Amino acid sequence: MKELLKVTGLNVVFDTPAGRVHANRGINLMVNENETLGLMGESGCGKTVLFLSLLRLQQPGRIVSGSIVFDGRDLTKLTTSEMQQVRGRQIALVPQDHSTALNPAFTVGQQLNEALLVRDNGGGLWKTSLIGCSGRGSQAFQEEVKAVLGELALGDLVDTGRLLGRYPHQLSGGIRQRVLIAMALLGHPRMLIADEPTTALDRASRVQTLEVLNRLCERMTMLIISHDLDAIRTTCERVAVMYGGRIIETGPMLSVFRNPRHPYTRLFLSCQKFSRGDVLPEVTGDVLNLIDFPLGCSFHPRCPRAMPVCSELEPAEVHVDDTMVACHLYATGETTC
Ligand SMILES: Nc1ncnc2c1ncn2[C@@H]1O[C@H](COP(=O)(O)OP(=O)(O)O)[C@@H](O)[C@H]1O
Ligand code: SF4
Ligand SMILES: [Mg+2]
Repeated sequence: MKELLKVTGLNVVFDTPAGRVHANRGINLMVNENETLGLMGESGCGKTVLFLSLLRLQQPGRIVSGSIVFDGRDLTKLTTSEMQQVRGRQIALVPQDHSTALNPAFTVGQQLNEALLVRDNGGGLWKTSLIGCSGRGSQAFQEEVKAVLGELALGDLVDTGRLLGRYPHQLSGGIRQRVLIAMALLGHPRMLIADEPTTALDRASRVQTLEVLNRLCERMTMLIISHDLDAIRTTCERVAVMYGGRIIETGPMLSVFRNPRHPYTRLFLSCQKFSRGDVLPEVTGDVLNLIDFPLGCSFHPRCPRAMPVCSELEPAEVHVDDTMVACHLYATGETTC
């Protein structure tokens, strides 16, 4: 399998009045062509910042060190105009919040048209509004949009003509989400990034969105952030677990779900399994403060397996069978703990 994306030692910070937020700390991550990787971790651990950084859209955050090699080119070294050729065309992002990601002042047709203008001419909505959305009536536009909406099962669900004339507030969350995916697909990207694609959707829309993502996984490289472990389980071949700005475990999805090695991964996955009447499981302790984090392993104040070394030394990444785990429990060559 060909390696498409390789992130090495990526550090991203935000300078705030309260201090420097270390949102991504030495991220190492690799994604092969046509693979789907799922990224999991509690809120605030740095998932969205990582995905935005891949497109160099992390501002006001700063990439202070590390490399992001995509198809042989280090994206951190590209000029602004070279990056514009990458965004949407090479790597497309379906943003986290479908309720605010679409422009409320423009119809779906205008916004899909914008995606085509950006792809073909580097234009934008300002241009679309000036020219009265001229591309919308064109045969090529109609055919391309129809094909994408068909792939997303929107062609059958709603009349395409009516959908194109609607404003975002006139659509359900599920349809808005799929319009965002359609905009991303119109750029023919090699890699699609979806940030919490099933969050804030009703059950039916969630299932439809999962079906769509499953189909897309068959033909392109995807990165999916999700709290929804069913979404990760049904779409991803490999997973990465993030805690406090670091990737602390990666491996094939089945290995990590069946045999999570890092104590945080174990607790995180156990929180999803409970029955009525059970005491609700939780990862106890406070979410890590990314301004002032502890020495050693940043999970040690919350870790049930913590040892003296854990508060002194940051654990290195260790390879155990087919997974990578950053935990002192495995430093001596143990394969299970
Ligand atoms: N614009 C910003 N200014 C300051 N801090 C930020 C900004 N955006 C994100 N952060 C911080 O970066 C950390 C990671 O955020 P994020 O990547 O959004 O987390 P999540 O894992 O929930 O997607 C959080 O501590 C967050 O407060
Ligand atoms: S390094 Fe120590 S504190 Fe960190 S997860 Fe492993 S056992 Fe727990
Ligand atoms: Mg997020």
